[in-house]
Amino acid sequence: MSDTEVDIPRVRAARQAREFGFPKRQTEEIEWRRVKLTPDQREAQQQLASIARAGGLAYLYGRNGVGKTLIVSGLGIGWEKVRHENRDATGVAGMNAARYWRAAELCGDLIRWQQSEATDKGSSPDDLARRAGLLVLDEIGDLKWTDFQSTTLSNIIDDRYTEKRATILIGNQKPNQLAKIGCPLSILDRTRDGGAIIDASGWKNMRGVA
Ligand SMILES: Nc1ncnc2c1ncn2[C@@H]1O[C@H](COP(=O)(O)OP(=O)(O)O)[C@@H](O)[C@H]1O
Ligand SMILES: [Mg+2]
Repeated sequence: MSDTEVDIPRVRAARQAREFGFPKRQTEEIEWRRVKLTPDQREAQQQLASIARAGGLAYLYGRNGVGKTLIVSGLGIGWEKVRHENRDATGVAGMNAARYWRAAELCGDLIRWQQSEATDKGSSPDDLARRAGLLVLDEIGDLKWTDFQSTTLSNIIDDRYTEKRATILIGNQKPNQLAKIGCPLSILDRTRDGGAIIDASGWKNMRGVA
């Protein structure tokens, strides 16, 4: 593709991913043509893509600024692109959407939804999270893991695991550090079954590169 051409399906998929919660920076604003993934990023993205297709669970961890959110948002956009293409071909939406939340925001949205007295509240956020074709929960280490948060997220992740729906968790903490902040380690146990724990702690900081 030349520099002047715009990939319309990708632009549309990025817009869709944005609507499903993927961060603005990684969907609308970013200039994709200036982003070239590093070999580490590319390898992790490919591994995550195959886990996503297989409906497994992955945990990607490392410092801030190494591109974790960027590569997973790329997967979300790719997911929406395929979903759109499938819908065009068959006339039905065979795949569920890719959805993104920062873990704390999902819990906050759920509490607000539960407390809302509106008559038309729409689907509950945890229901949307359960049904997503690909669910991304970012910044899981920034969540206050009280009982409500632990139960809510464990239940969502367990249900998805049973239904073979793909979930990608992202955080800064090593797996054993997650336990110390109260994240139930049973969650990460699910990565053993066709999923992965991906260590991005050695990756370089990419802030300001593009
Ligand atoms: N390969 C890359 N090329 C250019 N910019 C990148 C690349 N990887 C990441 N970035 C940029 O670096 C910044 C940090 O990436 P981000 O995904 O937010 O990191 P993390 O989620 O690991 O904290 C973002 O502005 C992102 O767009
Ligand atoms: Mg991030």
